[in-house]
Amino acid sequence: MTAPDSPELADRAAEWAGAYVHIPFCARLCPYCDFVVVVGRDEDADRYLRALTDEIAAEPPWRPLDAVSFGGGTPSRFGGWRLASVVEALAARFGLAVDAEVGLEANPEDWTPALAAELAAAGFGRVSFGAQSFDPDVLAALGRRHRPGDVARAVETARDAGFRSVNLDLIYGHPAEDTASWEATLDAALALDPDHLSVYALTVEPGTDLWRAVRAGAPPPDPDAQADRWELAQVKATAAGLVRYEVSNLARLGHACRYNLTVWARGEYLGFGVGAHGFRDGVRKVNVRRLDTYLRRVEAGIGPVQATEVVAGEEAERERLMLGLRRAAGVRLGDAGQALVDSEEGRRLIAAGVVEVRGDRLVVRRPLLTDTVTRLVLR
Ligand SMILES: C[S@@+](CC[C@H](N)C(=O)[O-])C[C@H]1O[C@@H](n2cnc3c(N)ncnc32)[C@H](O)[C@@H]1O
Repeated sequence: MTAPDSPELADRAAEWAGAYVHIPFCARLCPYCDFVVVVGRDEDADRYLRALTDEIAAEPPWRPLDAVSFGGGTPSRFGGWRLASVVEALAARFGLAVDAEVGLEANPEDWTPALAAELAAAGFGRVSFGAQSFDPDVLAALGRRHRPGDVARAVETARDAGFRSVNLDLIYGHPAEDTASWEATLDAALALDPDHLSVYALTVEPGTDLWRAVRAGAPPPDPDAQADRWELAQVKATAAGLVRYEVSNLARLGHACRYNLTVWARGEYLGFGVGAHGFRDGVRKVNVRRLDTYLRRVEAGIGPVQATEVVAGEEAERERLMLGLRRAAGVRLGDAGQALVDSEEGRRLIAAGVVEVRGDRLVVRRPLLTDTVTRLVLR
């Protein structure tokens, strides 16, 4: 099986131009979610679209985009024509590379043949469905609105409409899930023959309903069980022809997410919408996180940027290493990698088989320990 990522691709991705567009609207707040989302604000969709197009028009000219990613929130609730208008605005302002990846996150219950056709006609070729689990009890515990059968229908509809890359997001480790349930979820997901699979360990994010429940005595996810579930996902997905190219992401050859590859290669990307991040000309920017503040500021011509940070020198080098260590293809050693390898902890990690120097690259061989390794880079 050929890996969807490679050292060559890792280097190329650093040159790509990405754009991220955040769509905050959701039907319901998932108890584990700490992303920038709003519930019950769908009537603001047209106002939000105007703000997005104004924000895009105000961005200084740039090169054609290689990857465009709509995340949320729930982009599939925004309406096909609105998403198409944003793609049009991006294409008019910056241009789109001939082979540009244009993708969105979608909730299975929103996905209809009409929406799929509208998006395919607008240039979308990648869709990432928030499947999360195929066990109705786990879906209920995760606060999800869809039924397992909705995912199969959504995948088929996306394929019929001509989407070339279909991803499924899965979450493992909720206490309502046991090993048999996770195994059945993996089997059901893989039976749909996805081109890409993201498997995320359920994380208890501060301030969420899940966090409050855990503080009130509900059981938290068990890290050992989560490690076992990650292993099981690797075994099953690999047997189904998917290859891991990042800690939580597996894909077939040609289906690694180009937008994510750009971010992990420390490439440049523009960020539009409430709470969006961007990285351009060595400057990171982050937009305000409140929808009303975002709308008011863009409408007043002030611009939605809350903070900017220049990332240069050693900090930039450390950032390059930390992002690159997430990839199965590893990262060029450079100064930061060499410093890690030469340190006492680095030597210990190499002796323990956690990291490995392969030619001029550093590769994490125990992906679940990636965060432990990157914490050392920061010290
Ligand atoms: C921000 S969500 C938006 C996509 C879509 N609206 C949905 O709910 O599926 C993107 C993905 O992040 C993952 N995610 C969000 N919060 C998480 C958490 N606390 N722990 C693990 N994964 C999480 C989920 O798998 C989800 O599909």
